[in-house]
Amino acid sequence: MDKIGIFDFGGQYCHLIARRIRDLGVYAEIIYEPSDEYNGFILSGGPGDVYREESPKLQDNFFDDVKVPVLGICYGHQMIIQTLGGEVNIGEEREYGRKMVKLNLSSPLFEGLEEEERAWMSHFDEVKTLPEGFETIGSTDICNIAAYQNLEKKIFGVQFHPEVIHTPNGDKILDNFLKIVNCKSEWKLEGWVEEKLDEIKTTVGDKKVIMGVSGGVDSTVAAVMLARAGIDAHFIYVDTGLMRDYDTEEVKAIFSNLGVSNFVAVNEEERFVEALKGVKDPEQKRKIIGNLFIEIFEENANKIGKFDFLGQGTIYPDRIESAQPSHHANVIKTHHNVGGLPEKMLLKLVEPLNDLYKDEVRKIGKMLDIPKKFINRHPFPGPGLAIRILGDITKERLDILKKADVVVHQIIEENGLYDSLWQVFPALIPIKSVGVMGDKRTYEYMLAIRAVESLDAMTADWSKLPYEVLEEISNQLINKVPGINRVLYDITSKPPGTIEYE
Ligand code: XMP
Repeated sequence: MDKIGIFDFGGQYCHLIARRIRDLGVYAEIIYEPSDEYNGFILSGGPGDVYREESPKLQDNFFDDVKVPVLGICYGHQMIIQTLGGEVNIGEEREYGRKMVKLNLSSPLFEGLEEEERAWMSHFDEVKTLPEGFETIGSTDICNIAAYQNLEKKIFGVQFHPEVIHTPNGDKILDNFLKIVNCKSEWKLEGWVEEKLDEIKTTVGDKKVIMGVSGGVDSTVAAVMLARAGIDAHFIYVDTGLMRDYDTEEVKAIFSNLGVSNFVAVNEEERFVEALKGVKDPEQKRKIIGNLFIEIFEENANKIGKFDFLGQGTIYPDRIESAQPSHHANVIKTHHNVGGLPEKMLLKLVEPLNDLYKDEVRKIGKMLDIPKKFINRHPFPGPGLAIRILGDITKERLDILKKADVVVHQIIEENGLYDSLWQVFPALIPIKSVGVMGDKRTYEYMLAIRAVESLDAMTADWSKLPYEVLEEISNQLINKVPGINRVLYDITSKPPGTIEYE
Protein backbone atom coordinates (compact mmCIF):
# COMPACT_ATOMS: atom_id res chain seq x y z
CA MET A 1 0.00 0.00 0.00
CA ASP A 2 1.24 3.52 -0.81
CA LYS A 3 2.06 5.53 2.30
CA ILE A 4 2.90 9.09 3.35
CA GLY A 5 5.20 9.71 6.34
CA ILE A 6 4.40 12.79 8.43
CA PHE A 7 7.38 14.15 10.38
CA ASP A 8 6.25 15.33 13.80
CA PHE A 9 7.97 18.57 14.76
CA GLY A 10 5.68 18.94 17.76
CA GLY A 11 2.89 20.86 16.06
CA GLN A 12 -0.60 20.58 17.47
CA TYR A 13 -1.90 19.84 13.96
CA CYS A 14 0.42 16.94 13.17
CA HIS A 15 -2.26 14.27 13.70
CA LEU A 16 -4.69 16.42 11.77
CA ILE A 17 -2.42 16.27 8.68
CA ALA A 18 -2.38 12.47 8.90
CA ARG A 19 -6.16 12.34 9.25
CA ARG A 20 -6.67 14.60 6.24
CA ILE A 21 -4.36 12.45 4.11
CA ARG A 22 -6.22 9.31 5.19
CA ASP A 23 -9.54 11.00 4.37
CA LEU A 24 -8.11 11.54 0.88
CA GLY A 25 -7.67 7.77 0.65
CA VAL A 26 -3.94 7.41 1.32
CA TYR A 27 -2.49 5.77 4.42
CA ALA A 28 -0.41 8.19 6.55
CA GLU A 29 1.70 7.65 9.66
CA ILE A 30 3.50 9.92 12.13
CA ILE A 31 7.27 9.36 11.94
CA TYR A 32 10.55 10.73 13.31
CA GLU A 33 13.02 9.29 10.77
CA PRO A 34 12.86 8.81 7.01
CA SER A 35 12.49 5.32 5.58
CA ASP A 36 12.18 3.73 2.14
CA GLU A 37 8.67 2.53 2.84
CA TYR A 38 7.15 5.98 2.24
CA ASN A 39 6.20 7.39 -1.16
CA GLY A 40 6.35 10.97 0.08
CA PHE A 41 6.90 13.03 3.22
CA ILE A 42 5.11 15.93 4.86
CA LEU A 43 7.00 17.94 7.47
CA SER A 44 4.62 19.29 10.12
CA GLY A 45 4.43 22.62 11.88
CA GLY A 46 5.91 23.03 15.35
CA PRO A 47 6.37 25.53 18.15
CA GLY A 48 10.19 25.93 17.85
CA ASP A 49 12.44 28.30 15.89
CA VAL A 50 14.33 26.36 13.21
CA TYR A 51 17.61 28.21 13.85
CA ARG A 52 17.79 27.35 17.56
CA GLU A 53 19.99 24.49 18.74
CA GLU A 54 17.28 22.90 20.91
CA SER A 55 14.59 22.84 18.17
CA PRO A 56 13.84 19.57 16.34
CA LYS A 57 15.83 19.21 13.11
CA LEU A 58 15.88 17.18 9.94
CA GLN A 59 18.82 14.79 9.57
CA ASP A 60 21.68 16.75 7.83
CA ASN A 61 21.78 14.33 4.92
CA PHE A 62 17.99 14.11 4.64
CA PHE A 63 17.85 15.44 1.08
CA ASP A 64 20.80 13.26 -0.05
CA ASP A 65 18.88 10.14 0.91
CA VAL A 66 15.30 11.18 0.24
CA LYS A 67 14.37 11.28 -3.43
CA VAL A 68 10.58 11.22 -3.08
CA PRO A 69 8.38 14.39 -2.98
CA VAL A 70 8.41 16.46 0.21
CA LEU A 71 5.95 19.09 1.43
CA GLY A 72 6.84 21.34 4.37
CA ILE A 73 4.12 23.08 6.38
CA CYS A 74 4.88 26.13 8.58
CA TYR A 75 7.87 25.00 10.71
CA GLY A 76 8.44 22.22 8.14
CA HIS A 77 8.41 24.82 5.33
CA GLN A 78 11.12 26.80 7.15
CA MET A 79 13.08 23.66 8.13
CA ILE A 80 13.52 22.60 4.50
CA ILE A 81 15.07 25.98 3.64
CA GLN A 82 17.26 26.03 6.76
CA THR A 83 18.55 22.51 5.95
CA LEU A 84 19.30 23.40 2.30
CA GLY A 85 21.20 26.61 3.09
CA GLY A 86 18.59 29.36 2.57
CA GLU A 87 17.78 31.90 5.25
CA VAL A 88 15.03 31.81 7.88
CA ASN A 89 14.64 34.64 10.36
CA ILE A 90 12.20 36.69 12.40
CA GLY A 91 9.63 38.44 10.21
CA GLU A 92 8.64 42.12 10.30
CA GLU A 93 5.31 41.34 11.85
CA ARG A 94 3.56 38.38 13.45
CA GLU A 95 1.03 36.90 11.04
CA TYR A 96 -1.80 35.09 12.76
CA GLY A 97 -5.27 34.06 11.64
CA ARG A 98 -7.08 34.06 8.30
CA LYS A 99 -5.06 35.72 5.50
CA MET A 100 -5.33 36.09 1.76
CA VAL A 101 -2.46 34.40 -0.08
CA LYS A 102 -1.60 35.17 -3.72
CA LEU A 103 -0.75 31.95 -5.52
CA ASN A 104 1.15 31.12 -8.68
CA LEU A 105 -1.33 28.83 -10.38
CA SER A 106 1.23 27.32 -12.71
CA SER A 107 2.49 25.24 -9.75
CA PRO A 108 1.05 21.71 -9.68
CA LEU A 109 0.57 22.20 -5.92
CA PHE A 110 -2.11 24.84 -6.58
CA GLU A 111 -3.91 23.24 -9.51
CA GLY A 112 -7.63 24.04 -9.49
CA LEU A 113 -7.32 26.91 -6.97
CA GLU A 114 -8.02 30.64 -7.33
CA GLU A 115 -5.28 33.27 -7.70
CA GLU A 116 -6.12 34.46 -4.20
CA GLU A 117 -7.10 31.98 -1.51
CA ARG A 118 -7.93 32.27 2.16
CA ALA A 119 -5.42 30.45 4.36
CA TRP A 120 -4.68 30.05 8.06
CA MET A 121 -1.39 31.56 9.18
CA SER A 122 0.38 31.26 12.52
CA HIS A 123 4.01 32.42 12.44
CA PHE A 124 6.57 35.09 13.26
CA ASP A 125 9.68 33.56 11.65
CA GLU A 126 9.69 33.42 7.88
CA VAL A 127 11.78 32.26 4.93
CA LYS A 128 13.94 35.23 3.78
CA THR A 129 15.97 33.76 0.94
CA LEU A 130 15.61 30.59 -1.08
CA PRO A 131 18.43 28.19 -2.01
CA GLU A 132 19.27 27.65 -5.68
CA GLY A 133 16.68 25.79 -7.70
CA PHE A 134 13.76 27.12 -5.62
CA GLU A 135 11.12 29.69 -6.64
CA THR A 136 8.40 31.57 -4.80
CA ILE A 137 4.85 30.41 -5.61
CA GLY A 138 2.85 32.24 -2.93
CA SER A 139 2.95 35.46 -0.90
CA THR A 140 0.87 37.62 1.45
CA ASP A 141 1.05 41.36 2.17
CA ILE A 142 3.43 40.59 5.05
CA CYS A 143 5.26 37.44 3.98
CA ASN A 144 7.05 37.45 0.62
CA ILE A 145 7.79 33.75 0.55
CA ALA A 146 4.57 32.16 1.82
CA ALA A 147 5.02 29.19 -0.55
CA TYR A 148 7.84 27.83 -2.70
CA GLN A 149 8.75 24.92 -4.91
CA ASN A 150 11.69 23.14 -6.45
CA LEU A 151 9.91 21.38 -9.28
CA GLU A 152 12.86 19.31 -10.37
CA LYS A 153 13.36 17.83 -6.91
CA LYS A 154 9.62 17.89 -6.09
CA ILE A 155 10.15 19.82 -2.86
CA PHE A 156 7.36 22.21 -1.77
CA GLY A 157 6.70 24.44 1.20
CA VAL A 158 3.73 26.43 2.50
CA GLN A 159 3.93 28.85 5.42
CA PHE A 160 0.19 28.46 6.02
CA HIS A 161 -1.74 25.43 7.29
CA PRO A 162 -3.64 23.56 4.53
CA GLU A 163 -4.79 20.92 7.07
CA VAL A 164 -7.09 23.17 9.12
CA ILE A 165 -10.67 24.06 8.18
CA HIS A 166 -9.82 27.77 8.19
CA THR A 167 -7.98 27.13 4.92
CA PRO A 168 -11.10 26.28 2.90
CA ASN A 169 -9.24 24.80 -0.08
CA GLY A 170 -6.48 23.21 1.99
CA ASP A 171 -7.70 19.72 1.10
CA LYS A 172 -7.16 20.49 -2.60
CA ILE A 173 -3.54 21.44 -1.89
CA LEU A 174 -2.97 18.20 0.03
CA ASP A 175 -4.69 16.24 -2.73
CA ASN A 176 -2.50 17.95 -5.34
CA PHE A 177 0.55 16.92 -3.32
CA LEU A 178 -0.70 13.31 -3.34
CA LYS A 179 -1.02 13.56 -7.14
CA ILE A 180 2.56 14.86 -7.37
CA VAL A 181 3.63 11.88 -5.24
CA ASN A 182 1.57 9.70 -7.57
CA CYS A 183 -0.02 7.84 -4.67
CA LYS A 184 -2.71 5.27 -5.24
CA SER A 185 -5.86 5.71 -3.12
CA GLU A 186 -5.80 2.37 -1.38
CA TRP A 187 -6.76 3.22 2.19
CA LYS A 188 -10.34 2.04 2.55
CA LEU A 189 -11.80 0.90 5.83
CA GLU A 190 -14.12 -1.67 4.21
CA GLY A 191 -11.24 -3.91 3.14
CA TRP A 192 -9.33 -3.15 6.32
CA VAL A 193 -11.80 -5.04 8.55
CA GLU A 194 -11.54 -8.28 6.58
CA GLU A 195 -7.75 -8.09 6.49
CA LYS A 196 -7.54 -7.33 10.20
CA LEU A 197 -9.80 -10.23 11.13
CA ASP A 198 -7.53 -12.59 9.16
CA GLU A 199 -4.45 -11.08 10.78
CA ILE A 200 -5.90 -11.53 14.30
CA LYS A 201 -6.74 -15.14 13.51
CA THR A 202 -3.22 -15.83 12.27
CA THR A 203 -1.55 -14.08 15.23
CA VAL A 204 -3.66 -15.69 17.93
CA GLY A 205 -4.29 -19.11 16.38
CA ASP A 206 -5.89 -21.43 18.92
CA LYS A 207 -4.51 -19.56 21.95
CA LYS A 208 -6.81 -17.83 24.48
CA VAL A 209 -7.35 -14.05 24.63
CA ILE A 210 -8.63 -12.08 27.63
CA MET A 211 -9.78 -8.51 27.43
CA GLY A 212 -11.18 -5.92 29.83
CA VAL A 213 -13.94 -3.78 28.36
CA SER A 214 -14.65 -0.41 29.89
CA GLY A 215 -17.80 0.69 28.07
CA GLY A 216 -15.74 3.17 26.03
CA VAL A 217 -15.99 3.20 22.25
CA ASP A 218 -12.42 1.99 21.63
CA SER A 219 -12.49 -1.02 23.91
CA THR A 220 -15.98 -1.99 22.74
CA VAL A 221 -15.08 -1.85 19.03
CA ALA A 222 -11.80 -3.72 19.68
CA ALA A 223 -13.67 -6.41 21.63
CA VAL A 224 -16.28 -6.87 18.89
CA MET A 225 -13.45 -7.20 16.34
CA LEU A 226 -11.85 -9.96 18.45
CA ALA A 227 -15.19 -11.68 18.86
CA ARG A 228 -15.79 -11.55 15.08
CA ALA A 229 -12.33 -12.98 14.35
CA GLY A 230 -13.60 -16.36 15.51
CA ILE A 231 -10.88 -16.86 18.12
CA ASP A 232 -11.16 -18.02 21.74
CA ALA A 233 -11.68 -14.54 23.24
CA HIS A 234 -13.13 -13.75 26.69
CA PHE A 235 -14.31 -10.36 27.94
CA ILE A 236 -14.58 -8.95 31.45
CA TYR A 237 -16.43 -5.77 32.35
CA VAL A 238 -15.76 -4.49 35.87
CA ASP A 239 -18.49 -2.21 37.20
CA THR A 240 -16.46 -0.16 39.63
CA GLY A 241 -19.56 1.61 40.91
CA LEU A 242 -17.84 4.73 39.60
CA MET A 243 -19.60 4.30 36.28
CA ARG A 244 -22.95 5.80 35.46
CA ASP A 245 -25.73 3.21 35.65
CA TYR A 246 -26.44 3.49 31.94
CA ASP A 247 -22.80 2.66 31.05
CA THR A 248 -23.15 -0.82 32.46
CA GLU A 249 -26.58 -1.40 30.94
CA GLU A 250 -25.47 -0.26 27.46
CA VAL A 251 -22.35 -2.43 27.41
CA LYS A 252 -24.31 -5.50 28.49
CA ALA A 253 -26.95 -4.80 25.83
CA ILE A 254 -24.39 -4.35 23.03
CA PHE A 255 -22.57 -7.59 23.78
CA SER A 256 -25.79 -9.51 24.14
CA ASN A 257 -27.38 -8.04 20.97
CA LEU A 258 -24.28 -8.74 18.89
CA GLY A 259 -24.27 -12.30 20.16
CA VAL A 260 -20.85 -12.03 21.79
CA SER A 261 -20.51 -14.96 24.17
CA ASN A 262 -17.81 -15.27 26.84
CA PHE A 263 -18.76 -11.89 28.34
CA VAL A 264 -18.91 -11.43 32.11
CA ALA A 265 -19.87 -8.29 34.01
CA VAL A 266 -18.90 -8.10 37.68
CA ASN A 267 -20.17 -5.50 40.13
CA GLU A 268 -17.51 -4.48 42.63
CA GLU A 269 -18.80 -1.10 43.79
CA GLU A 270 -18.36 -1.93 47.47
CA ARG A 271 -14.69 -2.80 47.10
CA PHE A 272 -13.96 0.41 45.20
CA VAL A 273 -15.84 2.62 47.66
CA GLU A 274 -14.07 0.90 50.56
CA ALA A 275 -10.63 1.30 48.93
CA LEU A 276 -11.28 4.99 48.25
CA LYS A 277 -12.53 5.76 51.76
CA GLY A 278 -10.99 8.98 53.06
CA VAL A 279 -8.77 9.44 49.97
CA LYS A 280 -8.80 13.06 48.80
CA ASP A 281 -5.75 13.30 46.54
CA PRO A 282 -6.69 12.93 42.83
CA GLU A 283 -3.54 11.07 41.79
CA GLN A 284 -3.89 8.74 44.77
CA LYS A 285 -7.48 8.02 43.69
CA ARG A 286 -6.33 7.14 40.18
CA LYS A 287 -3.64 4.78 41.52
CA ILE A 288 -6.01 3.01 43.88
CA ILE A 289 -8.64 2.58 41.17
CA GLY A 290 -6.05 1.36 38.62
CA ASN A 291 -4.52 -1.18 41.01
CA LEU A 292 -7.82 -2.52 42.28
CA PHE A 293 -9.07 -2.80 38.72
CA ILE A 294 -6.08 -4.95 37.81
CA GLU A 295 -6.55 -7.11 40.92
CA ILE A 296 -10.22 -7.75 40.15
CA PHE A 297 -9.52 -8.32 36.48
CA GLU A 298 -6.88 -10.93 37.35
CA GLU A 299 -9.14 -12.69 39.85
CA ASN A 300 -11.84 -13.04 37.24
CA ALA A 301 -9.48 -14.02 34.45
CA ASN A 302 -7.99 -16.76 36.65
CA LYS A 303 -11.48 -18.14 37.22
CA ILE A 304 -11.91 -18.54 33.46
CA GLY A 305 -8.57 -20.13 32.63
CA LYS A 306 -5.03 -19.55 31.44
CA PHE A 307 -4.42 -16.90 28.78
CA ASP A 308 -1.65 -16.07 26.30
CA PHE A 309 -2.96 -12.80 24.87
CA LEU A 310 -4.42 -9.60 26.26
CA GLY A 311 -6.79 -7.66 24.00
CA GLN A 312 -6.63 -3.87 24.21
CA GLY A 313 -8.47 -0.96 22.65
CA THR A 314 -5.32 1.11 22.02
CA ILE A 315 -5.77 3.52 19.10
CA TYR A 316 -3.14 5.23 16.95
CA PRO A 317 -2.68 8.48 18.93
CA ASP A 318 -2.27 6.46 22.21
CA ARG A 319 0.48 4.40 20.60
CA ILE A 320 2.33 7.41 19.22
CA GLU A 321 2.07 9.33 22.47
CA SER A 322 3.39 6.52 24.63
CA ALA A 323 6.21 5.73 22.18
CA GLN A 324 7.39 9.33 21.92
CA PRO A 325 6.83 10.89 25.34
CA SER A 326 9.63 13.43 24.84
CA HIS A 327 7.75 15.00 21.96
CA HIS A 328 4.74 15.81 24.04
CA ALA A 329 3.86 18.08 26.90
CA ASN A 330 4.25 16.97 30.50
CA VAL A 331 1.79 14.40 31.70
CA ILE A 332 -0.68 16.64 33.44
CA LYS A 333 -2.67 13.81 34.98
CA THR A 334 -1.96 10.09 35.04
CA HIS A 335 -4.52 8.59 32.70
CA HIS A 336 -5.89 5.31 33.89
CA ASN A 337 -6.55 2.72 31.27
CA VAL A 338 -6.12 -1.00 31.54
CA GLY A 339 -2.35 -0.46 31.56
CA GLY A 340 0.06 -2.50 33.65
CA LEU A 341 -1.63 -5.80 32.90
CA PRO A 342 0.71 -7.46 30.39
CA GLU A 343 3.84 -7.11 32.54
CA LYS A 344 2.18 -8.71 35.53
CA MET A 345 0.34 -11.41 33.67
CA LEU A 346 3.07 -12.10 31.09
CA LEU A 347 0.63 -11.69 28.23
CA LYS A 348 1.25 -10.76 24.62
CA LEU A 349 -0.80 -7.88 23.29
CA VAL A 350 -3.39 -7.96 20.55
CA GLU A 351 -4.55 -4.47 19.66
CA PRO A 352 -6.81 -4.50 16.58
CA LEU A 353 -7.26 -0.71 16.40
CA ASN A 354 -3.73 0.53 16.97
CA ASP A 355 -3.41 1.95 13.43
CA LEU A 356 -6.65 3.91 13.56
CA TYR A 357 -7.83 7.37 14.51
CA LYS A 358 -10.95 7.86 16.59
CA ASP A 359 -13.15 8.81 13.65
CA GLU A 360 -11.97 5.67 11.84
CA VAL A 361 -12.77 3.57 14.92
CA ARG A 362 -16.27 5.04 14.86
CA LYS A 363 -16.70 4.08 11.21
CA ILE A 364 -15.54 0.52 11.95
CA GLY A 365 -17.97 0.41 14.89
CA LYS A 366 -20.82 1.24 12.55
CA MET A 367 -19.70 -1.44 10.08
CA LEU A 368 -19.77 -3.92 12.97
CA ASP A 369 -23.40 -2.94 13.75
CA ILE A 370 -22.66 -1.24 17.05
CA PRO A 371 -25.53 1.26 17.55
CA LYS A 372 -24.77 4.80 16.30
CA LYS A 373 -25.85 6.34 19.58
CA PHE A 374 -23.21 4.35 21.43
CA ILE A 375 -20.50 5.05 18.85
CA ASN A 376 -21.05 8.81 19.09
CA ARG A 377 -21.09 8.99 22.86
CA HIS A 378 -18.84 11.44 24.66
CA PRO A 379 -15.56 10.27 26.20
CA PHE A 380 -15.81 9.08 29.79
CA PRO A 381 -12.65 8.79 31.88
CA GLY A 382 -11.40 5.43 33.20
CA PRO A 383 -11.60 6.49 36.90
CA GLY A 384 -15.18 7.56 36.17
CA LEU A 385 -17.16 9.62 38.64
CA ALA A 386 -14.32 9.42 41.20
CA ILE A 387 -12.62 12.36 39.47
CA ARG A 388 -15.88 14.31 39.30
CA ILE A 389 -16.41 14.26 43.06
CA LEU A 390 -13.97 16.66 44.64
CA GLY A 391 -12.35 15.10 47.69
CA ASP A 392 -13.71 11.99 49.47
CA ILE A 393 -15.81 9.44 47.64
CA THR A 394 -18.76 8.02 49.55
CA LYS A 395 -21.73 5.95 48.43
CA GLU A 396 -24.04 8.88 49.23
CA ARG A 397 -22.01 11.28 47.04
CA LEU A 398 -21.81 8.76 44.21
CA ASP A 399 -25.58 8.31 44.28
CA ILE A 400 -26.15 12.08 44.11
CA LEU A 401 -23.82 12.43 41.13
CA LYS A 402 -25.30 9.44 39.28
CA LYS A 403 -28.81 10.90 39.59
CA ALA A 404 -27.60 14.35 38.53
CA ASP A 405 -25.78 12.94 35.50
CA VAL A 406 -28.95 11.30 34.18
CA VAL A 407 -30.86 14.61 34.51
CA VAL A 408 -28.19 16.67 32.72
CA HIS A 409 -27.82 14.19 29.86
CA GLN A 410 -31.51 13.90 29.30
CA ILE A 411 -31.97 17.67 29.01
CA ILE A 412 -28.98 18.05 26.70
CA GLU A 413 -30.28 15.29 24.44
CA GLU A 414 -33.85 16.60 24.41
CA ASN A 415 -32.54 19.98 23.30
CA GLY A 416 -30.51 18.42 20.47
CA LEU A 417 -27.20 19.64 21.90
CA TYR A 418 -25.41 16.35 22.59
CA ASP A 419 -23.56 16.01 19.27
CA SER A 420 -22.31 19.60 19.32
CA LEU A 421 -20.50 19.08 22.63
CA TRP A 422 -17.27 17.25 23.34
CA GLN A 423 -18.38 16.46 26.89
CA VAL A 424 -21.08 17.59 29.28
CA PHE A 425 -21.45 16.48 32.88
CA PRO A 426 -22.13 17.56 36.43
CA ALA A 427 -19.37 17.48 39.05
CA LEU A 428 -20.08 17.36 42.76
CA ILE A 429 -18.60 20.02 45.01
CA PRO A 430 -19.24 18.56 48.44
CA ILE A 431 -19.27 21.86 50.28
CA LYS A 432 -22.53 22.94 51.83
CA SER A 433 -24.16 26.30 51.33
CA VAL A 434 -27.39 27.77 52.61
CA GLY A 435 -30.54 27.88 50.52
CA VAL A 436 -34.28 28.09 50.95
CA MET A 437 -36.93 25.71 49.62
CA GLY A 438 -40.65 25.70 50.48
CA ASP A 439 -40.08 28.29 53.22
CA LYS A 440 -37.48 26.06 54.80
CA ARG A 441 -33.80 26.74 55.18
CA THR A 442 -31.62 24.14 53.42
CA TYR A 443 -27.94 23.40 53.85
CA GLU A 444 -26.74 21.18 50.99
CA TYR A 445 -23.98 20.46 48.44
CA MET A 446 -23.31 22.26 45.14
CA LEU A 447 -23.13 20.85 41.62
CA ALA A 448 -21.02 22.38 38.88
CA ILE A 449 -22.08 21.85 35.26
CA ARG A 450 -19.23 21.44 32.79
CA ALA A 451 -19.99 21.61 29.05
CA VAL A 452 -17.11 21.93 26.61
CA GLU A 453 -16.50 22.06 22.89
CA SER A 454 -13.27 20.59 21.60
CA LEU A 455 -11.69 18.80 18.66
CA ASP A 456 -9.22 16.58 20.47
CA ALA A 457 -9.41 17.39 24.22
CA MET A 458 -5.98 19.05 24.08
CA THR A 459 -7.73 22.41 24.25
CA ALA A 460 -11.40 23.10 24.93
CA ASP A 461 -13.80 26.04 25.05
CA TRP A 462 -16.59 26.24 27.59
CA SER A 463 -19.83 26.00 25.72
CA LYS A 464 -22.21 28.93 25.58
CA LEU A 465 -25.29 26.79 26.31
CA PRO A 466 -28.58 28.71 25.93
CA TYR A 467 -29.79 30.28 29.18
CA GLU A 468 -33.11 28.44 28.89
CA VAL A 469 -31.29 25.10 28.84
CA LEU A 470 -29.18 26.07 31.84
CA GLU A 471 -32.32 27.18 33.62
CA GLU A 472 -34.01 23.86 32.97
CA ILE A 473 -30.93 21.93 34.14
CA SER A 474 -30.79 23.98 37.32
CA ASN A 475 -34.52 23.61 38.08
CA GLN A 476 -34.63 19.90 37.45
CA LEU A 477 -31.45 19.18 39.42
CA ILE A 478 -32.75 20.98 42.49
CA ASN A 479 -36.13 19.27 42.21
CA LYS A 480 -35.02 15.76 41.32
CA VAL A 481 -31.72 15.29 43.13
CA PRO A 482 -31.92 15.29 46.92
CA GLY A 483 -28.79 16.66 48.60
CA ILE A 484 -28.29 19.61 46.21
CA ASN A 485 -29.43 23.20 46.66
CA ARG A 486 -27.14 25.16 44.33
CA VAL A 487 -26.06 24.73 40.68
CA LEU A 488 -23.04 26.52 39.19
CA TYR A 489 -22.02 26.82 35.53
CA ASP A 490 -18.32 26.37 34.81
CA ILE A 491 -16.98 29.05 32.44
CA THR A 492 -13.35 27.90 32.39
CA SER A 493 -11.74 26.90 29.11
CA LYS A 494 -8.79 24.49 28.75
CA PRO A 495 -6.20 25.82 29.33
CA PRO A 496 -6.19 27.06 32.07
CA GLY A 497 -8.68 24.47 33.38
CA THR A 498 -8.70 20.78 32.50
CA ILE A 499 -11.91 19.20 31.29
CA GLU A 500 -12.28 16.92 34.31
CA TYR A 501 -12.14 18.28 37.85
CA GLU A 502 -9.30 16.17 39.18
P1 XMP B 1 -8.49 16.59 30.99
O1 XMP B 1 -9.30 16.54 32.25
O2 XMP B 1 -7.05 16.21 31.20
O3 XMP B 1 -9.09 15.45 30.07
O4 XMP B 1 -8.65 17.89 30.25
C1 XMP B 1 -8.85 15.29 28.70
C2 XMP B 1 -9.69 14.13 28.22
O5 XMP B 1 -9.25 12.91 28.83
C3 XMP B 1 -10.27 12.33 29.63
N1 XMP B 1 -9.63 11.89 30.87
C4 XMP B 1 -9.33 10.61 31.15
N2 XMP B 1 -9.54 9.47 30.45
N3 XMP B 1 -8.53 8.22 32.17
C5 XMP B 1 -9.15 8.28 30.98
O6 XMP B 1 -9.35 7.22 30.38
C6 XMP B 1 -8.28 9.33 32.94
O7 XMP B 1 -7.72 9.23 34.04
C7 XMP B 1 -8.71 10.58 32.40
N4 XMP B 1 -8.63 11.85 32.84
C8 XMP B 1 -9.20 12.64 31.88
C9 XMP B 1 -11.28 13.44 29.87
O8 XMP B 1 -12.58 12.94 30.10
C10 XMP B 1 -11.17 14.26 28.60
O9 XMP B 1 -11.92 13.70 27.55
